[in-house]
Amino acid sequence: MKDLSGKTCWLIGASEGLGRALARQLHDQGMVLILSARNGARLTALCDELSGARALVMDVTDPTAVARAAAEAGHADLVIYNAGAYDPMATGAWDTGAILRMSEVNYTGAVHVIGAILPQFLGRNAGEIVLIGSLAAYRGLPGALGYGPAKAALRSMAETMRHDLRGSGVAVKLVNPGFIRTRLTARNSFRMPMLMTPEQAAGHVLRAIRKRRFRTDFPVPFSWAIRALATLPDVVVWRGR
Ligand SMILES: NC(=O)c1ccc[n+]([C@@H]2O[C@H](COP(=O)([O-])OP(=O)(O)OC[C@H]3O[C@@H](n4cnc5c(N)ncnc54)[C@H](OP(=O)(O)O)[C@@H]3O)[C@@H](O)[C@H]2O)c1
Repeated sequence: MKDLSGKTCWLIGASEGLGRALARQLHDQGMVLILSARNGARLTALCDELSGARALVMDVTDPTAVARAAAEAGHADLVIYNAGAYDPMATGAWDTGAILRMSEVNYTGAVHVIGAILPQFLGRNAGEIVLIGSLAAYRGLPGALGYGPAKAALRSMAETMRHDLRGSGVAVKLVNPGFIRTRLTARNSFRMPMLMTPEQAAGHVLRAIRKRRFRTDFPVPFSWAIRALATLPDVVVWRGR
């Protein structure tokens, strides 16, 4: 989507971190914003800052709330699914409830949102869906139980949609960031290579929205390293039992 000015964007996961920074950058481009998340106070404060923006409080894990919000949102040219949840968890500390919660926010929530918006887009033969995934989708990584599998599902869904929507006028894009300094990563105790600010990451997402390319992985060269790791045979990556 080259020209953003005057177009309407429904941004889901706008109250914090990457989404909050992205909302500001999309507003600077002249977009009309509909901002969603659970925290109404944070959304209202952001809307006060960004003229013309309106808040639609919504929990993506509640399909009724998502359908209601989509009806209230009305016309949209661009939908960005940025909602995400992450709890570092290794297999030895298995927590079924936490894994399912991560799956619901990172993957099932996107299913609810796409299900609510796609009929409108297909009816108009127009519209763009941007899914914020993660480099963690490319290979099972230590401590990413719950998060990695849900992002892998999101990646797979985006790849399928890309094929199925060819010729429909509706576009889907997948944007996979590396590490960003937000509340999500605040609990990571390991060193995060090429850690970005939310503003830097939002700049990457904005450029991805403007391009025709289906997939954007960033930052380079960290994303190249992760993609290369994903192509290596298991025997090279995981030694021992
Ligand atoms: N931080 C990183 O290193 C990193 C790396 C790769 C990918 N990502 C992805 O980037 C996206 C943004 O992450 P972030 O780091 O900016 O995290 P964040 O600061 O925690 O923001 C996550 C956003 O998702 C919203 N959200 C969470 N659960 C929700 C729910 N049930 N219903 C509706 N909204 C919900 C949050 O709002 P409320 O709490 O108000 O609901 C918030 O606006 C996520 O998809 C994440 O997986 C992040």
